[in-house]
Amino acid sequence: MSEWTKSGWREKPRVQMPDYTDKAALAAVEAQLSDYPPLVFAGEARRLKQELGAAARGEAFLLQGGDCAESFQQFSADGIRDTFKVMLQMAMVLTYGAKVPVVKVGRMAGQFAKPRSAPTETVDGVELPSYRGDIINELDFTEASRVPDPGKMLQAYMQSAATLNLLRAFSTGGFADMHRVHSWTLGFSEGRGAEKYRDIANRIQDSIDFMAAAGITGDTTHEFSTVEFYTSHESLLLEYEEALTRLDSTSGNWLAGSGHMIWIGDRTRQPDGAHVEFARGVLNPVGLKCGPSMETDDLKRLMATLNPENEEGRLTLIARFGAGQVESHLPALIRAVEQEGAKVTWVCDPMHGNTIKSGSGYKTRPFDKVLAEVREFFAVHKAEGTVPGGVHFEMTGQDVTECTGGVRAVSEDELSYRYHTACDPRLNASQSLELAFLVAEELTGLRAENRSVATG
Ligand code: PEP
Ligand code: CO
Repeated sequence: MSEWTKSGWREKPRVQMPDYTDKAALAAVEAQLSDYPPLVFAGEARRLKQELGAAARGEAFLLQGGDCAESFQQFSADGIRDTFKVMLQMAMVLTYGAKVPVVKVGRMAGQFAKPRSAPTETVDGVELPSYRGDIINELDFTEASRVPDPGKMLQAYMQSAATLNLLRAFSTGGFADMHRVHSWTLGFSEGRGAEKYRDIANRIQDSIDFMAAAGITGDTTHEFSTVEFYTSHESLLLEYEEALTRLDSTSGNWLAGSGHMIWIGDRTRQPDGAHVEFARGVLNPVGLKCGPSMETDDLKRLMATLNPENEEGRLTLIARFGAGQVESHLPALIRAVEQEGAKVTWVCDPMHGNTIKSGSGYKTRPFDKVLAEVREFFAVHKAEGTVPGGVHFEMTGQDVTECTGGVRAVSEDELSYRYHTACDPRLNASQSLELAFLVAEELTGLRAENRSVATG
């Protein structure tokens, strides 16, 4: 394969990227971003890669989640805190089920650019270019708002830096202390999910109390009071990605400095395309969305291109087929991976194959379809004897009404109450936690089976 450069993608066919008309403005923004500090460091990306390698072997489990699209307008400390908090709660529930470390990765601090199913949108007979995320243009339905503006990349960078700063502070500054596990529950006073959660929280508290009483403190306390939290986003706007790419002086490799993990979307994974070309040369862990149109030959080519050294943790395959579709698509892909002897981390995104338009016109996702896809994903891995390594959700810590269903059921009529997403519908805090319990049940079942295989 030819030598990689950070601008090599410019020679390849590109899709889903804006045509900036003001080339001088674009060049000025790229020059400025190239002078700014990277948002993440190579050592962090390498550590995440190792942890994802452990998830591939079933020795860890990935929880990846956050907004479909981050928003400039809704940027707030409370929003970040609430999503972080729910992810910690989910991670605790999953750790309890899986009895392995949960690797926490936010769709945060850089998740701004969106691929769209159509290049234009028509409302009341008026056709305008589609909204492509706050890093590119604006959601308002006016001609001026939809013009791509390169200056927005600078705002996205600043917001990502501030978000990451807060996440780092939350991770180590005492907020994530497991001893405060009960105070995390305050937001969940209603519903069946809350009871189950309090029950597990009580048991964890008991274990902590026991260890304290037994004098197990010192170094181990650190493990209970801080967490590792990583960031990720779709590597879609390649001018932005290239401008933040830096040479890691210790290894001589290139780092995408925009986030710890980047992924390639289901619409931009052409083996000869610009997005695959960019991702193949950076040292970060890379995700690859696999939807119903993914063919086994393409997957084999993509694995060879994106992970030529077959490095563990480098490549995460994010399956997103839709409920009822997993069994007809996933086994062939798993077998292709096994045939190649490829090391990959298998993750389930039960969101993107389950989007429907509700009667009232809102884009939504029924909770039971989301759950059904997760169950099918686990069932197929069980049948194939391979490892389900994690889950990938569009979710928020806020009490939104964007997906229908759940224990505190959101009905179709209620979607309009608090429908705030800038793009796809997200699980709210209660639905996210409920899903974590249901995934934990799958993981507990898996463990029970592995034990009986080991001893039987
Ligand atoms: C996304 O994750 O927001 C997304 C657009 O996913 P996909 O590429 O799988 O459609
Ligand atoms: Co989405």
